[in-house]
Amino acid sequence: MLVAQRKKESDNILYIGVDLGTSRSAVSASNGVREWERSLVGWPKDIIAKKFLKRDIVFGEACLKHRLALDVFRPLAAGVIKTGTDRDEEAARTLVKHLISMAKPEPGQSVYAVVGAPAEASTFNKQLIREAVSDVADACLIVSEPFTIAYGLEMLFNTLVVDIGAGTIDLCIMHGTVPAAEDQKTLVQAGDFIDQQLFEMLTERYPSAQFTETMVQRWKEEHAFVRVDGSPQDKIIVSIPVGGRPTSHDITDELSRACSAILPFLREELRTLIASFDPEFQVEVRQNVVLAGGGSQIRGLRQWLEADLADLGGGHVSTVEDPLYAGADGALAIARDTPADDWDRLRTL
Ligand SMILES: Nc1ncnc2c1ncn2[C@@H]1O[C@H](COP(=O)(O)OP(=O)(O)OP(=O)(O)O)[C@@H](O)[C@H]1O
Ligand SMILES: [Mg+2]
Repeated sequence: MLVAQRKKESDNILYIGVDLGTSRSAVSASNGVREWERSLVGWPKDIIAKKFLKRDIVFGEACLKHRLALDVFRPLAAGVIKTGTDRDEEAARTLVKHLISMAKPEPGQSVYAVVGAPAEASTFNKQLIREAVSDVADACLIVSEPFTIAYGLEMLFNTLVVDIGAGTIDLCIMHGTVPAAEDQKTLVQAGDFIDQQLFEMLTERYPSAQFTETMVQRWKEEHAFVRVDGSPQDKIIVSIPVGGRPTSHDITDELSRACSAILPFLREELRTLIASFDPEFQVEVRQNVVLAGGGSQIRGLRQWLEADLADLGGGHVSTVEDPLYAGADGALAIARDTPADDWDRLRTL
């Protein structure tokens, strides 16, 4: 039966917006559910692990907690779903199904889902998402992530969305239509890249300190900043064990340099994208730059970018209020607004 017919017959529809991210995924649904999960899937390593965990599969934060007892998969990397092994693909499918189930559809309720996927997701990736969703939903649209954010903010005209995620920074110019390939740019220097830089710098400066990638990421999330015009910054001191003894370490300089490592790449792509836009509207686009994604919370970043636009004639940079749910909320808004006929006609936006 066509979606259009079903939609007319019954209003018992649950609309779901999903933001499928490299590090975190979020779900926002028309029944009010708003949930997020780390994008991790873990299978117990052996029969003992399974007995202890009392589960066949583990998702999200619990994968970190029990990582020694699990084979943990992070199904997305550098903005795309990892493929190659059956387990990678199974992890991606399982995660997508889990996210839809988090919206708690009632028995008999029709489920219409809009999934925001990385802008660069391949046709194969989209097919994989579609197959996974089709097992648990009645209809599915896959849209690019920056578009979901712009849609949710109702900023679809002459706006530049910069979604700073873990695997990628996605930049996208909106000009009132669904963005085309040339309106979008993807950088692989994003949150994960900052983490790697910070890890390497701290390893070099403090060779006897014992720390993990997870600890480095946590310090970044608590203290991330870039310097604006050499402004002073309080020292950032963290406790790291040395030979088992908790010891204070100053990470101010390393953190500033690691966070700043994305700036030359970001600056370059931002300028290229603005310069490629219709010259009549470039001034307006510069006044409507919106930062989203977890990385938009880096202190000083908004001000740094604004100062950097000065020599082009100035600009205004803002930050979304809720970086965790902006993508999922936007995807939900698209789901609600998509006419019934389009659910049948459109396969991808
Ligand atoms: N307060 C913070 N300051 C700086 N970075 C942060 C902060 N909070 C989260 N992050 C970083 O933001 C990134 C996660 O952001 P987000 O959830 O938007 O990414 P994602 O959607 O999972 O990734 P992608 O869009 O690349 O698929 C991670 O690198 C995380 O460490
Ligand atoms: Mg994202």
